[in-house]
Amino acid sequence: PEVGALRRDLLGWFDRAGRDLPWRLGDEGRRDPYRVWVAEILLQQTQVARGLGYYERFLEAFPTVQALAAAPQDAVLKAWEGCGYYARARNLHRAAAIIDEQGFPQDYAGWLALPGVGPYTAAAVSSLALGEPRAVNDGNVRRVLSRLRAEAHPSDKWVQEQADRLLDPARPGAWNEAVMDLGATICVPKSPACDRCPVSAHCAAYQLGQPGDFPAPKAR
Ligand code: ADE
Repeated sequence: PEVGALRRDLLGWFDRAGRDLPWRLGDEGRRDPYRVWVAEILLQQTQVARGLGYYERFLEAFPTVQALAAAPQDAVLKAWEGCGYYARARNLHRAAAIIDEQGFPQDYAGWLALPGVGPYTAAAVSSLALGEPRAVNDGNVRRVLSRLRAEAHPSDKWVQEQADRLLDPARPGAWNEAVMDLGATICVPKSPACDRCPVSAHCAAYQLGQPGDFPAPKAR
């Protein structure tokens, strides 16, 4: 019951206030796999605000996976200019050739097998484009869950378990994007905006009065 209320409150907020981003075209769980995949690769190391212009430019240059597969590698690297980490562009290009031949992967494992696609990207694309119940797990998710549960030292295993447990199986893609948006706009690292948070009533760190203390800085 508690998890149900948390899901309802976070998804209600996402439906009202989620960010309007160019890869969020189409119905949730059935988004265009090409647009989602390119976005998730770009966003691996580039922040959303910085990445938007590059994203639109890349999609104009290569509007479909067929166009990307057919392009010479230097054209792909040229379109990637400014984004850095060129291995991502080379992997996109290699994966495009595979997708052009075999079609888009139809599940998490299929995405994970492509060059440049790790667990985060495979979970994001399979939940957003295929509606598969896969929880994303990155720094934002870790911070949000650490605060919700007031777990100051979340291990990777703990984060994945919590993420899997909280994921709304009815709306996995929306749930993942809702957590991302919450972490990017409200549950930010310093001075989180708890007064605007849709799930503060479910947040153990907020109840303790110390949301900014979670997670504790990693020992080094
Ligand atoms: N960061 C990485 N993937 C994202 C997505 N799908 N929406 C918003 N921010 C993201």
